[in-house]
Amino acid sequence: MFRSPTKFLSTLCVSAVMGCMSIADIAAAELDELIRDCANCHGMDGVSSEPEVPTIAGLSEIFIVDTLAIYKDRDRPCIETEYLEGGNKGVKTDMCKIIDELSDESIEALAKYYAGKEFVRAKQNFDPDLAARGQKIHKSNCEKCHEDGGSSVEDDAGMLAGQWTSYLEQSFNSYASGERLMPKKMKPKFNKLTDEGKQDLLHFYASFQ
Ligand code: HEC
Ligand code: HEC
Repeated sequence: MFRSPTKFLSTLCVSAVMGCMSIADIAAAELDELIRDCANCHGMDGVSSEPEVPTIAGLSEIFIVDTLAIYKDRDRPCIETEYLEGGNKGVKTDMCKIIDELSDESIEALAKYYAGKEFVRAKQNFDPDLAARGQKIHKSNCEKCHEDGGSSVEDDAGMLAGQWTSYLEQSFNSYASGERLMPKKMKPKFNKLTDEGKQDLLHFYASFQ
């Protein structure tokens, strides 16, 4: 993981003044560093400007903790990605490698942090006619668990409404290929979607702006 010069200095400072800083301060400094790392791809406060990278601000704490555990267990594919900003810009990594380095305490703290931020819907193109068809498909197959058009935080099932289309499409593909473990009761609903139906759904989710 990238170590910025300030982190290096703060580490030295911590070890030189052992006992002066409370454990809470050290934990806060560590969390701060992790958040800066996440921001290199997920954007400031978890609001992504990159269609391949999901916005993680405002997702529920339970969903984030579960999701990170799923990466750790390799029940989600470890899709290669690149640092978009920062000193490691262009360096290849993936979410599994990133999460492998995190303690359970850090995961909890990160989840709490991002759950407290506001989800900002992506500004992206959509076709209103396809979105209208997608709305119907959503209502009869997905609304039960992804309430309010997939915009509800309470159902701990991620955010579909206003999430980046490219990212959602990739999620559809990894569910379809079986690389991403699918909730048991989502399977029958998801597996009966046609390719056209999936496109309609994507336009529907993109229509939330
Ligand atoms: C190098 C870029 C990069 C960094 C750094 C990074 N991520 Fe990610 N993250 C991604 C990409 C790309 C995806 C979507 C593809 C995938 O699932 O791997 C993703 C997916 C996620 C998801 C799943 C969201 C969902 O709706 O299912 C969560 C949660 C997440 N990241 C949290 C974090 C946290 C917390 C950090 C910091 C510790 C972090 N990420 C650091 C690129 C990154
Ligand atoms: C029985 C409940 C249930 C139904 C029905 C259901 N889902 Fe899900 N869905 C979930 C849960 C729980 C999660 C979170 C777990 C996970 O990430 O795999 C989820 C996650 C997702 C995600 C990943 C979101 C992210 O940010 O990573 C997508 C995309 C998705 N569902 C699409 C759909 C679509 C499209 C339908 C309708 C065809 C649907 N789901 C029907 C329960 C359901």
